[in-house]
Amino acid sequence: MQDTNAPVILKREFSQAAEGGWMSALPASTPAATRSVERFRNRTLTFFPAEMMSTLYRRRGPITVVGPFTFLLGPEANRFILANPELFSWRKAFQAFIPVSGESALIVSDGAAHRRMRRILQPLFHRRQIERHLAVIAENADVVIDQWRPGQRIEVFQAFRSALRRATIDSLCGQEMARDTPFISEHIQDSLDLARSGLPQVAVWNRRLSTPQSRRAMAGMRKIDARVYAEIDRLRRDGGDEDNTFLATLVHGADGSGEPLSDKEIRDQVVNVIQAEETTHPVLAWAIYGMLTGPGVWDRAAAEVREVLGDRRPEAADLKRLTYLNGVVHETLRLYSPSGMSLRHVAQDFEFAGRRVKQGSTLIFSPYITHRSPEAWPEPLAFRPQRWDPAEPGYRIRGTDEYLPFIPGPHRCLGAELAKIEITVMLARLLSRSSLHLPDQRPIRMASLPVMHPAHGIQVDVLDCLGCDENSVQSRPRHR
Ligand code: HEM
Repeated sequence: MQDTNAPVILKREFSQAAEGGWMSALPASTPAATRSVERFRNRTLTFFPAEMMSTLYRRRGPITVVGPFTFLLGPEANRFILANPELFSWRKAFQAFIPVSGESALIVSDGAAHRRMRRILQPLFHRRQIERHLAVIAENADVVIDQWRPGQRIEVFQAFRSALRRATIDSLCGQEMARDTPFISEHIQDSLDLARSGLPQVAVWNRRLSTPQSRRAMAGMRKIDARVYAEIDRLRRDGGDEDNTFLATLVHGADGSGEPLSDKEIRDQVVNVIQAEETTHPVLAWAIYGMLTGPGVWDRAAAEVREVLGDRRPEAADLKRLTYLNGVVHETLRLYSPSGMSLRHVAQDFEFAGRRVKQGSTLIFSPYITHRSPEAWPEPLAFRPQRWDPAEPGYRIRGTDEYLPFIPGPHRCLGAELAKIEITVMLARLLSRSSLHLPDQRPIRMASLPVMHPAHGIQVDVLDCLGCDENSVQSRPRHR
């Protein structure tokens, strides 16, 4: 059964979402200029379309059908979706990405093809594999911080973007490819912007209409493909000097049945992880925002980093000891999960909460709503890293229906460990080397549900910056 008055419902829910979201936190009498500053001071940001879904959930329960879209929202819906992966097709949900991601990328594969590729790739992302790259990750954070000076204003969302991309490419594909990070960044940007401009259908329409952005995106991807194929050739020819990277293992390894991966399959996996990495740097920026706006959070995290690490870079054994900082990462992934919403294509009819959902419809569900639900989280909008500390009263292990930033199941994020480690290590370097302040600026806003990021970045003032003067930059030991 569909709601025939869908536009009316949406319009009503929309205005209620605005009232119930960020608008409601400020008294109506607040002057406009103050409102724009206070909107981001000491408080968690909200995102308008997600608030709209939240209103839908509160008023209409876990299922609402609006035209071809079925919203399945809240913990009960999450449990159903996670328990029944066979009802859904990822390939059909994300097929708009195939011209860029390639046919064999995990997120656009289903069934046996997905299981085969996952079996090959998963061991390469185990925590122990990733921990080998801590020095590279820390080094890339230090390169960013080295350039800062006390008194400078920095936009942190962009500042860490290329550092994270370079760390990821270096860790997964080796130093040769990492040297070309600026080239890769330049040519991948249009396709990333297109992918996060809305539902996947937006990318399809851009391609059909051959818009300038779509043409630029495809031209950029051809350049990246050429670079990736050249690296595959080099590794096949010379063996390469780093035979234990993700890329080298794919080139030299086999799929378990003795059949090597084709160059095209390898290209798809490489492009996919470079693109997927784009999800990490918004989280880093939101973590900085959360630490600077949550009362006392920055100071407490900095004190812990000082106690555990002094001013050295983190090693694998240190990571578990950074309890509060790990809480910062979890809390950021709870409140600012880049995957605030995800899609499923319904491959078979099913029934949920007394409603029939038809094959062919698009299902929308939302970690954002669950992560901010007052039923699941006391003081849901407070940025409280200590809620993740097992020693804290009231602590309990969270079920995957309540906390799902990496969406468990057959397509669980392959890069989850890499992303968490990258964010933790970069934050540890930031906390141990700098002191930052959030100045007045244009309102910080969340943008785009597929990958929630700060729309205009986040400006911070550098109050202090350890080892940032020229002498110490030169004397800093380089790991590679
Ligand atoms: C904080 C950062 C990240 C978040 C929140 C995140 C989140 C997710 C989510 C929610 C999915 C599942 C999508 C769905 O089923 O609808 C996913 C899939 C995936 N992610 Fe991530 N991701 C992050 C970083 C990364 C990184 C750094 C990599 C690799 C370098 C990566 C690689 C992948 C891959 C390959 C898949 C597809 C897995 C499959 O289909 O089997 N992700 N990610």
